[in-house]
Amino acid sequence: MAFPILLLHLTFFTFNVFSSHSHSHADRIISLPGQPHNIAFQQFSGYITVDNKNHKSLFYYFAESETDPSSKPLVLWLNGGPGCSSLGVGAFSENGPFRPNGEFLVKNEHSWNKEANMLYLETPIGVGFSYAKGSSAYTTTVNDEETARDNLVFLERWFDKFPQYRNRDLFLTGESYAGHYVPQLAKLMIERNKRNNVFNLKGIALGNPVLEYATDFNSRAEFFWSHGLISDSTYNMFTRVCNYSRYVSEYNRDSVSSVCSNVMGLVSKETSRFVDKYDVTLDVCISSVLSQSKVISPQPQQANEMVDVCVDDKVTNYLNRRDVQEALHAKLVGVRKWDVCSNVLDYDVLNLEVPTLPILGSLIRAGIKILIYSGDQDSVIPLTGSRTLVQKLARQIGLNTTVPYRVWFERQQVGGWTQVYGNILSFATVRGAAHEAPFSQPERSLVLFKSFLEGTPLPEVF
Ligand SMILES: *[C@@H]1O[C@H](CO)[C@@H](O)[C@H](O)[C@H]1NC(C)=O
Ligand SMILES: *[C@@H]1O[C@H](CO)[C@@H](O)[C@H](O)[C@H]1NC(C)=O
Repeated sequence: MAFPILLLHLTFFTFNVFSSHSHSHADRIISLPGQPHNIAFQQFSGYITVDNKNHKSLFYYFAESETDPSSKPLVLWLNGGPGCSSLGVGAFSENGPFRPNGEFLVKNEHSWNKEANMLYLETPIGVGFSYAKGSSAYTTTVNDEETARDNLVFLERWFDKFPQYRNRDLFLTGESYAGHYVPQLAKLMIERNKRNNVFNLKGIALGNPVLEYATDFNSRAEFFWSHGLISDSTYNMFTRVCNYSRYVSEYNRDSVSSVCSNVMGLVSKETSRFVDKYDVTLDVCISSVLSQSKVISPQPQQANEMVDVCVDDKVTNYLNRRDVQEALHAKLVGVRKWDVCSNVLDYDVLNLEVPTLPILGSLIRAGIKILIYSGDQDSVIPLTGSRTLVQKLARQIGLNTTVPYRVWFERQQVGGWTQVYGNILSFATVRGAAHEAPFSQPERSLVLFKSFLEGTPLPEVF
């Protein structure tokens, strides 16, 4: 019964490939195992070598727009970590066209490729299917600078494979530690463009990003406290005795003081590991929390029907299937399996402390529009820290408020709040959303994404 459908499928793809994609033939995905049958957009994936000498190759997945790809912008999406996969987290759990569920891929009705041609990059090397060859491949420490350089080379060479996208409006987007990756890459692009115009960069959007780690991390205490995750006395300790930025800074230098150790012990005990810090209102995936250590557990709860809190496990199973890897043209080099976040990457954790807010300032001066958005249930990079930083940036570079703080709508409900400065710098929350906003609020996130790309105000009424 499946045979004629498959045939139809192949015919369709063949037609499209010769009409517009003769250069990228080798990377075309014929069909992902378990994908729905009526898929009318093209998918590509494969490797771009970014360093011939050290055999460094970055893996990408590219989903063309569902409609009219030749007139839609090109959007790069990067997840953070550092070391987490834009393929597994971004594409298959957040804003990509499909989400795995057992043997099958389920269509995401709010995929960002409804509005754009979406390019997902696993970066740096050692993340997901991206690799380096040779004995010293994963033993040297990778930092922000090297990552940005490799990402730049990736894009330059990716355009050689997809020349029809070279002059397309380009947007960089990402989340969390991509608050480092994206501005740093954008900065290199602007510099590169001074020699000759290579990148048609229009804007960047960052979700729950790390922009200035002390402000970002220290907003955690108040978030925990105001959501009832810690007691009054622990809140006092977490702000006055040892705040979170101090703890992380000590931790990353292998020198955690006994005061900080005590305070963090209290915080961890009260917040409990059965709460998802990336969305304090979501249930946790019991099987994966328990697999992290063997402790007696409470009874498993019924997961929220709308949000699949076990998506990570499903993605990991799916991307480790041999047939899936073959369909993706992916291989595992120097690692045993594909992981959501890398086990082999040695990243310079002190780069966390490098502020990227000043880079955002220079991008605005270069005319690049910026959106900082926050899933408002995230305690890891809470909205209050991001909002403070956007305000600070606006003040520093002399941008006045052009849209005062107000609600925005998605259908008949409030999608979140927004404020705009100088018609170029925007802040928006996504109501009820996680650190991975498009994962738990896909519909609201898509409205936000569309308005960002089109440069139109978020809906003010319904
Ligand atoms: C966090 O702690 C450090 C070290 O004690 C201190 O310098 C800093 O001002 C504190 N930050 C906040 C926001 O309390
Ligand atoms: C911002 O507002 C201040 C006070 O109203 C005004 O003096 C200034 O010219 C404005 N700046 C811009 C860039 O519009």
